Amino acid sequence: SIVSKRYRTAYHFQPPKNWINDPNGPMYYNGFYHEFYQYNPNGSLWGNIVWGHSVSTDLVNWIRLEAAIERDTPSDINGCWTGSATILTGGQLVIIYTGADTEKRQVQNIVLPKNQSDPYLREWIKVGDNPVIEPVGPGLNSSQFRDPTTGWIGPDGLWRIAVGAELNGYSAALLYKSKDFLTWTRVDHPLYSSKTFSMWECPDFFAVLPGNKSGLDLSAAIPNGAKHVLKMSLDSCDKYMIGVYDLKLDTFVPDTVLEDRRLWLRIDYGNYYASKSFFDSKKGRRIIWGWTNETDSSSDDVAKGWAGIHAIPRTIWLGGDGKQLLQWPVQEIESLHTGEISHQGIELKKGDLFEIKGTDTLQADVEIDFELTSNNNTDPFDPSWLLDTEKHCREADASVHGGVGPFGLVVLASDNMEEHTTVHFRVYKSQHKYMILMCSDLRRSSLRPGLYTPAYGGFFEFDLEKEKKISLRTLIDRSAVESFGGGGRVCIMARVYPVALVDDGGARMYAFNNGSSTVRVPQLRAWSMTRAQVNVNKV
Ligand code: FRU
Repeated sequence: SIVSKRYRTAYHFQPPKNWINDPNGPMYYNGFYHEFYQYNPNGSLWGNIVWGHSVSTDLVNWIRLEAAIERDTPSDINGCWTGSATILTGGQLVIIYTGADTEKRQVQNIVLPKNQSDPYLREWIKVGDNPVIEPVGPGLNSSQFRDPTTGWIGPDGLWRIAVGAELNGYSAALLYKSKDFLTWTRVDHPLYSSKTFSMWECPDFFAVLPGNKSGLDLSAAIPNGAKHVLKMSLDSCDKYMIGVYDLKLDTFVPDTVLEDRRLWLRIDYGNYYASKSFFDSKKGRRIIWGWTNETDSSSDDVAKGWAGIHAIPRTIWLGGDGKQLLQWPVQEIESLHTGEISHQGIELKKGDLFEIKGTDTLQADVEIDFELTSNNNTDPFDPSWLLDTEKHCREADASVHGGVGPFGLVVLASDNMEEHTTVHFRVYKSQHKYMILMCSDLRRSSLRPGLYTPAYGGFFEFDLEKEKKISLRTLIDRSAVESFGGGGRVCIMARVYPVALVDDGGARMYAFNNGSSTVRVPQLRAWSMTRAQVNVNKV
């Protein structure tokens, strides 16, 4: 239908039809990137989950293959759920994933490539020992025990993985050890746990070097000065902690422990879940993939015949202060750029709306730098806003004048502005520093009823004296609006379904300022994005 076509993304990852959720087992091996994903072969709602499989040489164009793991053994007959790939010493590939067994218990299973020299790695064989890990042991709940991580080697030469679980009211990343990746024993303590009362789905554990964009391979030697990151999926978002991996105690030790989990840092402050990262040995970087759900209704998804996309793969690294992760769309996505337009030295006074013309506003990549002309007017920061940034974004929205800000982008706007989505900043003065709020406000994104349209938001610290420019990059892909603020310090992924896209097929895009202080735009660049070849052909 026209609805399905107009909202379907042109360069985000999705199969031709049906439901997808979590990215699984991402890896680079022998010339190809592999992206597996939770997939319902029979429809556009969750269920019957198998592992869909696609390969790519550039992370942009994808070849669709047959399902890699199907529900055909007692240990995964009720679902082949999330898992990870590990390249063992010597190059042997192995995938460990969660199966929902005949009794709907969650167990961990192994598959190996049938022919490791097949460049596409099309066929995967289940090992006879499955399940290799069962939900047994003190405190374990067999329906809250899933999503094993990529393996890493400890100083004793044994492999380790973490599995998400709920344990006696604690959320935990349980630690397991093995010599051969087949026989596993549970370590007497978790890698990390916390009293959050809900299980941590899709834990991810990796190492990063402060201020260094190159990625680290967790199963290679980790250099001095490296930090470790534990990511967990809960409360509908992906949160993380930065800390160290204490080799003696074999535990993750966060640098700061925040009791209130609303304050935990997030990989993304929007619609982004169940992410998983991998070390890309081709380019020496770490890449993270996440799942973005639809925010229309289930009946819309049935009518569209598809649901769920993956966010653009992002390079992920640790900032120089060692305090937060930064992310940026992989450079390869720029191969879709066409028809660059640029403007220099725009001045945006209070109330100004500058229309960005000359690009396809439905498929675009926009980068704007903002420069403040004065910071005398900054409003004071209230730390209590951190507890509910969405509430603050609703209260201080794009129409509410501030001292410095709001300024930013208006995208997917109808001619009369009845429909529009804003992505914008506000600058606040905290005691010794500036705090910048980034919002992606979907409340006016569509006139259609029955959509989930929050005002997403996140804060980042900013040194106005040292860093002059506040940058915003937004990737627009029909129903996807994916934004990166402050060079990747706050990321916000969102889904929108404007009526205008279906009715007249058009939309407008603007830069705006609604703060008292004038802001300068030293540079604005935008490109149309051509359609990528995403799973259009099955081999
Ligand atoms: C996260 C999740 C995982 C599970 C999978 C099932 O979205 O719930 O915990 O393995 O999806 O599809």
